[in-house]
Amino acid sequence: MSTPGKLQATVQALVRKGKGILAADESGPTIAKRFKAIGVESTEENRRAYRSLLVGTAGLGDFISGIILYEETLAQRADDGTPLPELAARQGIVPGIKVDAGKIPLALAPGDEITLGLDGLAKRLDGYKQQGARFAKWRAVYNVSDTLPSRLAIEANAHALARYAAICQEQGVVPIVEPEVLIDGDHSMARCAEVTEAVLHEVFEALHRHRVVLEHMLLKPSMVVPGKEHETQAATAEVAGETLRVLRRTVPAAVPGINFLSGGQTPAEATANLDAMNRLGPLPWTLSFSYGRALQDPVMQAWRGQAANVQQAQAALLKRARLNGAACEGKYSAAMEAGE
Ligand code: 13P
Repeated sequence: MSTPGKLQATVQALVRKGKGILAADESGPTIAKRFKAIGVESTEENRRAYRSLLVGTAGLGDFISGIILYEETLAQRADDGTPLPELAARQGIVPGIKVDAGKIPLALAPGDEITLGLDGLAKRLDGYKQQGARFAKWRAVYNVSDTLPSRLAIEANAHALARYAAICQEQGVVPIVEPEVLIDGDHSMARCAEVTEAVLHEVFEALHRHRVVLEHMLLKPSMVVPGKEHETQAATAEVAGETLRVLRRTVPAAVPGINFLSGGQTPAEATANLDAMNRLGPLPWTLSFSYGRALQDPVMQAWRGQAANVQQAQAALLKRARLNGAACEGKYSAAMEAGE
């Protein structure tokens, strides 16, 4: 198949009505933090057991079209010896890979950060493709205050995201472009909206400059919400309205799908917000999810590292996936939270 044909087929497999993406690509330090909270040691075997549980959940493919894996997981196998990317593919779930190498402080810009990982990316992608990955993810983060992020941080991260996306497309791998405006801090919702608009505007300018084909990528943005420590929190309708206002201003209709991150929202909040946005349609793009914590928190709570809890943990994953699938079609209601 030609490279554009491959990219198109992967986008089509990912952007499916009533389905979204499971982000299970926590880096070493992040998964260690999540495991610590449930009293589990982060050993290679525990990570393998946990991620096998996720990928092996029967019926997951009904609501999940893609899964983002961490490099280590691409090479791991389920108990019966099946490579985890293959197990995902058997469920109709496209395997993907986090390719950024994490963030560091941006030089000469106190408080700002920049994401690493461009060096040798094309070569790494070659290996990931052989292990079954068909799409990739790169996360840029923006700290928010009255003065942050700086213009420099907005421009530097847009440049890196665009370089990453271009390299992926040249290799036939669909890039998920993830600019995350962080929820940490006491900033207002208006400040979050202002920053998100500036960030997305710059990202799409850079993508254009770097010749990225918008039809062959997905956007993974944060929602417009007040900072976690802000004095008032926003109602679902406000989050939905403000987020869509910013997206409509900045994201071209050629982008096939927008898959939100959950960024510290509770599982129920993340589902309700997505649902509310889909009720405000018709929209130019398919609006879905690419949640990490909002899908996995209840799973980890149920699992707690015990093989005896696997079934219960898988039921928790299937439930959140199903409710988010409903939210993709604007068919979720809080009453659905009760029961399995
Ligand atoms: P959260 O949904 O937990 O924010 O994770 C999504 C993700 O992939 C962050 O890079």
